[in-house]
Amino acid sequence: MSKNGSISASVIKRLPRYYRFLGELKKQGVERISSRELSERMKLTASQIRQDLNCFGGFGQQGYGYHVDSLHNEIGKILGVDRNFETILIGAGNLGKAIALHINFETRGCHLTGIFDVNPKLTGQRVGDIAIMHTDEIEKFCHEHSPVVAVLCIPKANTQEIADKLVSLGVKAFWNFSHYDLSIDYEGIIVENVHLGDSLLTLTYGANIVISENEDN
Ligand code: NAI
Repeated sequence: MSKNGSISASVIKRLPRYYRFLGELKKQGVERISSRELSERMKLTASQIRQDLNCFGGFGQQGYGYHVDSLHNEIGKILGVDRNFETILIGAGNLGKAIALHINFETRGCHLTGIFDVNPKLTGQRVGDIAIMHTDEIEKFCHEHSPVVAVLCIPKANTQEIADKLVSLGVKAFWNFSHYDLSIDYEGIIVENVHLGDSLLTLTYGANIVISENEDN
């Protein structure tokens, strides 16, 4: 893993997109692709693609391009998709249920095995093939299953407290949807804060520029 430790954050951020595009090419039966073709599909420059992929030892061959299947596998390994990390989800409300049902955890290195909510009325209700457990059960569950990843879909007021508790129970990585920028001051803990609203604001920023230009003309 240390081999990838010095890769810039911007390259790492692009890897899931490479992985997704290559997965689609694989499904279409494409066996190899040049950096030029890949760049046209991904709307990145060919040199950007070469630079990015060179960070990992360059999977391409001069005059041949990239072998789609092996590049997809290599990037998958770097992303940890073969790890099968035991995963729990906290907060089985609208968002938590939607994430549990619609995100394919298995193809992304995670295996969702526990869903918890503080509301006793939800205990025993099924989300897909998992029965919701009360949060009182978290400690026991963590001792038995040692989950590595936690998905947080709870109100912001409760987020830090739950995160601290989960860290003490051995959770190492948080996919945090609560409207609270979780920054955990423990060494070796990974946090990915997700705000769909921020993505929408990036869109409105772009729309604002385009519409303003049209209005000026
Ligand atoms: P919801 O009210 O439908 O569900 C929240 C669930 O969390 C409830 O079932 C509640 O009983 C449970 N809960 C509260 N405290 C808990 C705790 N300490 N432990 C375990 N469970 C607990 O709300 P919804 O729509 O599912 O949203 C969840 C959170 O995600 C909200 O805070 C919302 O603002 C946020 N959100 C974030 C988005 C994003 O892009 N990051 C998008 C949409 C919502």
